[in-house]
Amino acid sequence: MKGIILAGGTGTRLRPLTLVTNKHLLPVYDRPMIYYPIQTLTQAGITDIMIVSGKGHAGGFLELLQSGAQFGAKFSYGVQDQAGGIAQALALCEDFADRGPVAVILGDNILYDDISPAIKDFRSQKRGAKIFLKEVDNPRSFGVAEVSGEKIVSIEEKPAQPKSNLAVIGLYCFDGQVWDAVKQLKPSARGELEITDVNNFYVKQGTMTYEVLKGWWGDGGESFASLLQAGVLAANRAAEKPDA
Ligand code: DAU
Repeated sequence: MKGIILAGGTGTRLRPLTLVTNKHLLPVYDRPMIYYPIQTLTQAGITDIMIVSGKGHAGGFLELLQSGAQFGAKFSYGVQDQAGGIAQALALCEDFADRGPVAVILGDNILYDDISPAIKDFRSQKRGAKIFLKEVDNPRSFGVAEVSGEKIVSIEEKPAQPKSNLAVIGLYCFDGQVWDAVKQLKPSARGELEITDVNNFYVKQGTMTYEVLKGWWGDGGESFASLLQAGVLAANRAAEKPDA
């Protein structure tokens, strides 16, 4: 299974930190933010990875991450010319994926769960997609899932009145249908191709499964507070597990 890390976008919520540096290259304790999603994928045995960045920053990613050998991985690179949304960045990876299953992670999402068992479960699904949920205090800032037993009923992007406190985190498993889903998308009210619309394609089809994350999850790009919180947690973990 191949992996995709989406690290485009403009990082407006973290200005001025992101005026001349890409958000995903900012430090989270002792390493650049993007090291965390790389580790989430490689730890699950996903080592053939395409990284999409925005223009103006592609050189920095290449210089930092190189071939991927330092992570025991093989990296390919893509450039998103304009920040037209997460799903637009994803669309650039169609040839790389070659209609096989993919694990997609957003470059600002930090989690410490070992996702190997969930990936294994997804591989045993005949078709469809899998998302990962986490209970949060501020669901309005995220995609929010309404669930009923094993089923996802709906997903809403940053709803004013969330139907639950289950955030859809920035980690998704998709089968080859994802490229058909992406082609059907229309820009949202904020002018972006939304990953939530891709997810709802599978929800409507009845082939969306989910896992609830056990460990800590943070969106390092959500706010200065979330960036700081991610750094403090990483520092505490490093003190507990210096080799992780
Ligand atoms: O962190 C989880 C949340 O991520 C989900 O709950 C939401 O459903 C999902 O839409 C997303 O929301 P954000 O508002 O946090 O998305 P943001 O615009 O910050 O983009 C997240 C990452 O996606 C960013 O770090 C890089 C990538 N991205 C984003 C855009 C807009 C791209 O690669 N290209 C883009 O054009």
